Amino acid sequence: KVIPAAAITIFGAKGDLTRRKLIPALYNLFIDNHLPSRFVIYCVDFLPMDEEVFKADLLDGINQFSRNGKADPVIWETFAQRIFYVQGDFLQAGTFTGLKEKLTAFDKANEQPGVRLFYFAVAPRFIEIISEALHKHKLCNKIALHRMIIEKPFGTDLTTARKLNRFLQERFDEKQVYRIDHYLGKETVQNIMAFRFANYVFEPLWNNKYIDHIQISVAEEVGVGKRGGYYDSSGALRDMIQNHLLQLLCVIAMECPAAYEAETIRDAKTRVLKSIRPYTNANVFKQVIRGQYTEGTVNNMPRPAYRNEEQVAADSNTETFVAAKLNIDNERWKGVPFFLRTGKSMPRQSSVIVIQFKDSPNKIFKDDIVPNRLIISIQPELEISLLFESKVPGLEMKLKPVEMDFMYQDAYSETLPEAYEALLIDALHGDATLFMRADQIEAAWKVVMPILDAWEKHRGKKLEFYPAGTWGPDACNSLLRPHATEWFSLPPHKGNGTH
Ligand code: BG6
Repeated sequence: KVIPAAAITIFGAKGDLTRRKLIPALYNLFIDNHLPSRFVIYCVDFLPMDEEVFKADLLDGINQFSRNGKADPVIWETFAQRIFYVQGDFLQAGTFTGLKEKLTAFDKANEQPGVRLFYFAVAPRFIEIISEALHKHKLCNKIALHRMIIEKPFGTDLTTARKLNRFLQERFDEKQVYRIDHYLGKETVQNIMAFRFANYVFEPLWNNKYIDHIQISVAEEVGVGKRGGYYDSSGALRDMIQNHLLQLLCVIAMECPAAYEAETIRDAKTRVLKSIRPYTNANVFKQVIRGQYTEGTVNNMPRPAYRNEEQVAADSNTETFVAAKLNIDNERWKGVPFFLRTGKSMPRQSSVIVIQFKDSPNKIFKDDIVPNRLIISIQPELEISLLFESKVPGLEMKLKPVEMDFMYQDAYSETLPEAYEALLIDALHGDATLFMRADQIEAAWKVVMPILDAWEKHRGKKLEFYPAGTWGPDACNSLLRPHATEWFSLPPHKGNGTH
């Protein structure tokens, strides 16, 4: 697809996201010739900045975070000529009238209107302020070429998310609003759709007749680092479960959409969220474990207790770990529990989805049989592995589980694009498949609201502690019973096996 021209405006130019993710992603797209021949990047922020100093910092970000490693000086020079620092207060009309002049001049120079993409890499309190100004000053008009990407968190609960949705819908068309969940842009996550719907061998087994339970686990080695201020008022449920983990669940549990097309795919995912059995006051504390890390050691380095992290309250009850059991009440999934787990300051990064098949009804062998298990590893290992029983060579009929592996690095020589590259290019092309629609966001908030309400009512109740560098509170294993005794990861020779 060819886009004639694009003006990308990033609000929050001095923020971490711009430096770590957005500019490196745009640079990689530029190297690979995916950006239109005419494009500009306006980087807006409050601080007065010398443009050259600003660009040097962006270059430093590319050198540190781009998948291509250090930037090529010649390519960077050409790319950097398209970047402009625009100093402006989001609260001042002048910021937007000035920006409008630049955008209008850009369109004029191209002799036709191009794509306008406004990226909100800002604190949530600015979303309404900036979008109101874009509307009022007619920078983002109700036309398909004008789009905005809104970063998470999208609201802090169902009420605020709804309010924000209404606010945006009163000013823009839903099709112009791209709510980002960067997990959907990950190559391994996109591949789940291909795996499920392009391979007929698995789909007939993808239901409660053959599947015992499903585990979705996103373990992070990092702690809260410098984000304590934001994190302490958010917590793992809002930061990870409401968005990333529920989206992974949707891709695993959705019905096959009628077409690979934004609206049908998003309809199918929303249906999953709406079929999740609501938590009740009585079962929240049984089905959802929340934890917080105490002092410990992660990767041989000391890690302070969460309560001693920068900008975190000394008596904080915010959770840095959540494990939750949930059920989907539809024909396909009735009786198959889904277990979700995420936490910070764990021994290592490991995001995996485990499909645990049922025990075989055939009991003809002496050995105990380990039921089949499919492990989709999202990061850092990029692979899909199927565990199955096999005969150990020898004169006896002895069995042992072995695995069949698909590893990206063996199968493909291509380097994998970063999630933000895939999402930025989709937004530039007007493809919203991997973005969240208003009703999806609200349905996801609805799932977690009973948990938030119960926690709010009983602050500190059943907050379990785990030392940094461990796999979470002990209670998270009992949650799995009787379906499993522990959380699975990649087979033993690769990762830790189980933990
Ligand atoms: C972000 C969360 O959305 O996702 C962070 O706010 C988290 O707390 C991050 O660390 C994880 O993303 P990734 O791509 O590193 O797994």
